[in-house]
Amino acid sequence: MPVFSPTALVGLAATCPEATSPPNPQGRPISIWEITSWILPMAPEHLRRVLAAEPTLPQGTAGAEGGTRWFQPSDLVALRAHFASGPRKARYLPARLGAAPLVVMTGPLGAMGRSSALVHLATAAALSGHRVLVIDGDPGGDVSRALPCATPAGTGVLSLIARSAALHLRRLNEARLERGDAPQPMDEALSAALPLTATDLIRPSLWPGLDVMAAPLAMMQGDRQIAGWRLGLRTWAPGQALRQAIEEAGLRQRYDLILCDTPRGLGPLALALLASADVLLAPLPLRDDGPARLGAGLLALAEAMTQLEAEAQTAARALGQVAAAGQSWQALWVLPNRAGEDAARQMAQATALLGEALVPPPLPEVTALADGVARQFYDLDYRKLGRLTYAPLREACDAAWRSVAERLAALES
Ligand SMILES: Nc1ncnc2c1ncn2[C@@H]1O[C@H](COP(=O)(O)OP(=O)(O)O)[C@@H](O)[C@H]1O
Ligand SMILES: [Mg+2]
Repeated sequence: MPVFSPTALVGLAATCPEATSPPNPQGRPISIWEITSWILPMAPEHLRRVLAAEPTLPQGTAGAEGGTRWFQPSDLVALRAHFASGPRKARYLPARLGAAPLVVMTGPLGAMGRSSALVHLATAAALSGHRVLVIDGDPGGDVSRALPCATPAGTGVLSLIARSAALHLRRLNEARLERGDAPQPMDEALSAALPLTATDLIRPSLWPGLDVMAAPLAMMQGDRQIAGWRLGLRTWAPGQALRQAIEEAGLRQRYDLILCDTPRGLGPLALALLASADVLLAPLPLRDDGPARLGAGLLALAEAMTQLEAEAQTAARALGQVAAAGQSWQALWVLPNRAGEDAARQMAQATALLGEALVPPPLPEVTALADGVARQFYDLDYRKLGRLTYAPLREACDAAWRSVAERLAALES
């Protein structure tokens, strides 16, 4: 009988090509039309006049066909700063949201649209002038591929969870030594994570204002590792790890918004990230089976969280301690997604079912996404679609973000 061992897997993997890096290291070009219609709203003539009068501002480059000038995403920083220092500051620089909330994507069934909704909201937020941190919590790495950036040290957000376990173990070992007991050994992953902080894991993306904590392949070991650490450290709460790491690194002040993706299912990694959330955001695909799939996913999440809490209480009781209060979030919002021709009917149905939890307007169905042509709408050059097709899609993506931003601002006050 043939035997297929891990060594044979390595051999087979070596025959496959390596993943290629993103084609456009600077990001896609942005035209004066796009800037003045959607990013820094003003008459195009006004922008041209200002550029002529201010030679130190980025001037863009003419396209092959002449006519309009094209800018790089990084040029937006200087342009925004210039207009935000003028009399119409409020129009060009959004009000800060205060301490950045941690918004975690949920709806644990597959293909609900978590990753694409996150990427669209994050890019829209950054293009409107917010400082955004995206944490890719899915070892599958969809978000890391859609928002490419340099590979950082460590194992992404898993390093932060490992560090929390390592610090916990260190405290327990100090107590053991005081009692004259032998310390418990620290595994390699925990030792490696100990000196890392969130800042070491964050890299800029191609979009100005949008930073990413990418998900390296090693995160695939996350569920197994977290489960192992929990066995050895029964009083450790992985659900506090991300929140504590964010606060320790001062990320709530450095950013306006922190968005975290989660993998499909409710393994230890997903649950740890979800437990740290301030706000849960669940995409609802506007399909006939959308509400049923959303409901099934949320029920599974509730059951998993209840069980985790019961386990924490049992562990605490065994040690004669009192468990911390149960899980609570500030809000759960449902973000409708994939609005196509039937959107009005589907939205009416979703509103009747979900009421205030639903955050309209929906993100649009983007055919180029469904067809795998682009990873996200904001990567598309409007010349490929034509202005008439592009404009309503752009407006819909931007409007979905504005609506989430309003809710976040209301949460603060
Ligand atoms: N607004 C949209 N328009 C078109 N296709 C979409 C849209 N949102 C998601 N999709 C497609 O649906 C599939 C699942 O989306 P994804 O964001 O990967 O879901 P999840 O992260 O929940 O697994 C992907 O193939 C994606 O391209
Ligand atoms: Mg995903």
